[in-house]
Amino acid sequence: MRRGSLLVDHIGELVTNDGRDGDPLGVRRDAALLVEDGQVAWIGSARDAPAADRRIDAGGAAVLPGFVDSHAHLVFAGDRAAEFAARMAGERYTGGGIRTTVGATRAASDDDLRATVGRLRAEMLRQGTTTVEIKSGYGLNVADEARSLRIAAEFTGDTTFLGAHVVPAEYADRPDDYVGLVCGPMLAAAAPYARWIDVFCERGAFDADHTRAILACGQAAGLGVRLHANQLGPGPGVRLGVELGAASVDHCTHLTDADVDALAGSETVATLLPGAEFSTRSPYPDARRLLDAGVTVALATDCNPGSSYTSSMPFCVALAVREMRMTPAEAVWAATAGGAAALRRTDVGRLTPGARADLIILDAPSHLHLAYRPGVPLIRQVLHNGVPR
Ligand code: NIG
Ligand code: FE
Repeated sequence: MRRGSLLVDHIGELVTNDGRDGDPLGVRRDAALLVEDGQVAWIGSARDAPAADRRIDAGGAAVLPGFVDSHAHLVFAGDRAAEFAARMAGERYTGGGIRTTVGATRAASDDDLRATVGRLRAEMLRQGTTTVEIKSGYGLNVADEARSLRIAAEFTGDTTFLGAHVVPAEYADRPDDYVGLVCGPMLAAAAPYARWIDVFCERGAFDADHTRAILACGQAAGLGVRLHANQLGPGPGVRLGVELGAASVDHCTHLTDADVDALAGSETVATLLPGAEFSTRSPYPDARRLLDAGVTVALATDCNPGSSYTSSMPFCVALAVREMRMTPAEAVWAATAGGAAALRRTDVGRLTPGARADLIILDAPSHLHLAYRPGVPLIRQVLHNGVPR
């Protein structure tokens, strides 16, 4: 028995995501799981459970991998509740409010930004999220993009440079110059703190030529590619992402058959963000169409003060099942293993020996309850790196 080992015992339903026997969730019944050094050391039947220093009795509950939220904009100041209220009274979402948040973010102190990220990260952890990607994108000048990423890097290794979120007001009549800034001094200042680069490829934000140029600069600086694409209407983003080998194209709300075909023959994950459709009162993406075509689908919150101010992966799972024609099993897989695939991570999103011991003990006997009991706080306990939180 290794010192510091921890046994999670009497697990009624263990979701491993090991893909065994044609069951993507790799469900085991009456299981136990041993944690050592922050990793899953052993999984097996409860009656074969080894001795350990400490023990958590799951009492027959379901245990699943911690959620992997692969798309979140947490570095910002202020909120846009009035914009939300206006939308619920009939206004359309255009992304125009991003500039409001840019103004508030530039005016905020480092400590204020850090406190907001910390508050949202803690909120996520309470709801079972153990891995989160965090984007910049509300600074939109060299100093504020770099500090957004510096602060994000205090909370996650999956930081994303989104200097190309929109063209800021001071560059409104010279977007080419702004693209030059993003590819030049802004990327140079941001890259030391970033793992990924992202562009909002959409009418009113960045067109295909600008998107391609920015992503190429990011790749040359060693960053991996991800993309906001086809959120507000059809466009070139999804196919461009596939062509450039993006880890993920995110939103995917308006897709043509050619977009779906391109994704189906690729390693690029389609990340769906139903919180954005909820909060902008827009039609949801059709996850069924993507899944039936063989596309790898992830679910994420898109947590941001404009289009989706939720930090809750359970809420996104419930929306995906009810509104996007996903089965509960597909939605749980997409919120765990799918998110890991979107971040090209193999150490999270699964509970197999050697994986990080990030797990959720539900207040329920099955993963089905996440969608079956929407809005109910079902996360009884979270282990992050093997540490009970
Ligand atoms: O993913 N679409 C672009 N960016 C965010 C929204 C940002 C905002 O409205 O502040 C999104 O939905
Ligand atoms: Fe987003």
